[in-house]
Amino acid sequence: MAILPIITAPSPKLKAISGEVERVDDDVRRLLDDMLETMYAAPGIGLTAIQVGVPRRAIVIDLGREAQPAGPLFLVNPEIAWSSEELLEREEGCLSLPDQYADVIRPSEVKIGYLDYDNVRREIHADQILSTCIQHEMDHLDGILFVDRLSAVKRNIIVRKLAKARRQARYATA
Ligand code: NI
Repeated sequence: MAILPIITAPSPKLKAISGEVERVDDDVRRLLDDMLETMYAAPGIGLTAIQVGVPRRAIVIDLGREAQPAGPLFLVNPEIAWSSEELLEREEGCLSLPDQYADVIRPSEVKIGYLDYDNVRREIHADQILSTCIQHEMDHLDGILFVDRLSAVKRNIIVRKLAKARRQARYATA
């Protein structure tokens, strides 16, 4: 396994629409393993392939030991089969937007069809933080960041903060 560099915003790559995975074979499993190790090292609770520069519809999630399901969840070619009309507002962050957090409103529950680590088609019904996390990661597959779901005013504040942090990092290493 390997820890891969995570792409941070702004980057045109993060706006790419990822392509379907043909089947979950050993190459895809190697990618999923690397993504999981990268996510644990960050640390984070979710990561998509495009965030490590691979435009494929693959997601890894691990909400920790207390969560249901416990342990890592691998979602390949996920599709929303159903989403609740009820909405939920929850604070989100993103490994591609370091140190930035904002409240995002999404459907509170979703049902997802996907291929698992063994290329088996499965369904999962998610609520609470898992629902938020899955929807956040699925947005990445279509080039959408959580800041794109905020008002222009809130988004601009975060974009300016990121640009400032990036300038300061450059000076620090110059
Ligand atoms: Ni993210």
